[in-house]
Amino acid sequence: MSIAVVSRPEPCLMVIFGATGDLTQRKLYPALVKLAAEGRLPEHFAVVAVGRREKTDIQVRKEASRAAAAAGAGPATIAGAEGLLQHIHYFQMDFDEEASYPRLRQRLAELDEVYNTRGNRIYFLAVAPQYFGPIADLLYQHGMTYQQGTWQRVVVEKPFGQDLASARQLNERLTRAFGERRVFRIDHYLGKEMLQNLMVIRFANTLFEPLWNGRFIEEVQISINETVGVEGRGGYYDGSGALRDMVQNHMLQLLTLTAMEPPVDLDADSIRDEKVKVLRSLRPITPANLEASVVRGQYGPGTLDGKPAAGYRQEERVDPGSNTETYVALKLHIDNFRWSGVPFYLRTGKRLPVRSAEIVVRFREQPGVLYFGRTSSELGPNLLVVRIQPEEGVFLQFNARQPGSQGTIVPVRMDYCQNCGTGLNSPEAYERLLADVMRGDSTLFTRWDEVEYAWEFVDQIAGLWEQAGTPVELYPAGSWGPPGADRLLAQSGHRWILPFQCLLTERPDVQVIGSGPMVERCQSRFPEAQVER
Ligand code: BG6
Repeated sequence: MSIAVVSRPEPCLMVIFGATGDLTQRKLYPALVKLAAEGRLPEHFAVVAVGRREKTDIQVRKEASRAAAAAGAGPATIAGAEGLLQHIHYFQMDFDEEASYPRLRQRLAELDEVYNTRGNRIYFLAVAPQYFGPIADLLYQHGMTYQQGTWQRVVVEKPFGQDLASARQLNERLTRAFGERRVFRIDHYLGKEMLQNLMVIRFANTLFEPLWNGRFIEEVQISINETVGVEGRGGYYDGSGALRDMVQNHMLQLLTLTAMEPPVDLDADSIRDEKVKVLRSLRPITPANLEASVVRGQYGPGTLDGKPAAGYRQEERVDPGSNTETYVALKLHIDNFRWSGVPFYLRTGKRLPVRSAEIVVRFREQPGVLYFGRTSSELGPNLLVVRIQPEEGVFLQFNARQPGSQGTIVPVRMDYCQNCGTGLNSPEAYERLLADVMRGDSTLFTRWDEVEYAWEFVDQIAGLWEQAGTPVELYPAGSWGPPGADRLLAQSGHRWILPFQCLLTERPDVQVIGSGPMVERCQSRFPEAQVER
């Protein structure tokens, strides 16, 4: 058993801009309540919830406790967080109104006295992106971003810009106010348990690391499949699309962690240095290879869970003639020694049949000396699947002889599930991320150059789509995306590997490990023709 001694973070005030917004209610309050109940907040700590509406301290305290309950916190957790709830204060102001900032500064100084928080601040910008720049400027102008002997950090949500140019401008404003080391750019995928585990799996196992290269790996598939649509976020989403909403950040982060070289150290900069090298090695997307590299889809009307589902163009606050993509599939190459010749397939989409995020590594075929004559489809590929959600774990598929048979070979599976049936509830990404900001650890946040290279890459694609007027390929809601995504892989003789939940049902000769509604759901989703790999 290992015992980790974690000291409590330094005293501070956390100022949440956008206190009445969705992110604060759904993620920040529940995470703070959980951290409080576990004794992981600083001993001297208070929250200042900043919003435009009129509210009292009592009201926001109730909101925070209701938000935590809605996110699943039980009465014991909420009771354990009573100390925190009593330390939440409301402050009303318009985020871009200059005259409010001296008032805010004054209020924070008073609360410093009350709570002994010593002038340390976390400013969390849980607001619409157009306020990121103005808030940073005004905090800076009013001397609220630097004070000797104390620290001030800023946490920014995505989207970090709309393209490279706007991201650069935003970054200049943030770093002018705070300096790079005190800017914490959130990519909530980095807070997910299995992403943190990915480095351990890769670098702490003799079994995997020596094989982690193009000599042994045939292809890598990275998928984030969502069943949800745009859920009332049509206004934002229609101007963004899956490329900017998911690929620029989460998908490229998964890619860099999968492909990077071992860092020289485990500190934030050493890890981020390696991630940046992967982004710099991505083969550019050009007019000549665009079509063979990128597929752009949008969901039309369809059926999900047996019920009719509206198409994207029928969603609220979406242009009825919209050409915004809700699905992207990519075939990428990382031009370095390790990955030469290995395609990395990425796909993400909304209104797909199953919710899952996975990294699938398919190893190369054996030369077939002993089991002469057998094709890979008989033998089954060696697969390593890193399951990020909904279940967290690792799954390894290899070939074995079926007991009692005449030499029949079947793929068998070893499955490690981190959060199944053990009662272990992995911490939510935001709990981990907030705790890290309090400790000043930026490992799980994106550094500016990562964001910059990611935008540069994504801008090439967006620019080419615009130039060529690339239309979206429609797919019915509840299906596996547009046919173009299958063609993308078929050019190299590959095909999408089904999410883990569905693999269990794929081969009748393999013992089905799972059972229940999920299995039925996958079975019902896959007509026979799509089932074989
Ligand atoms: C967000 C995107 O960053 O990630 C959403 O803006 C998406 O469109 C979400 O639904 C997915 O996150 P998760 O944690 O639910 O997989």
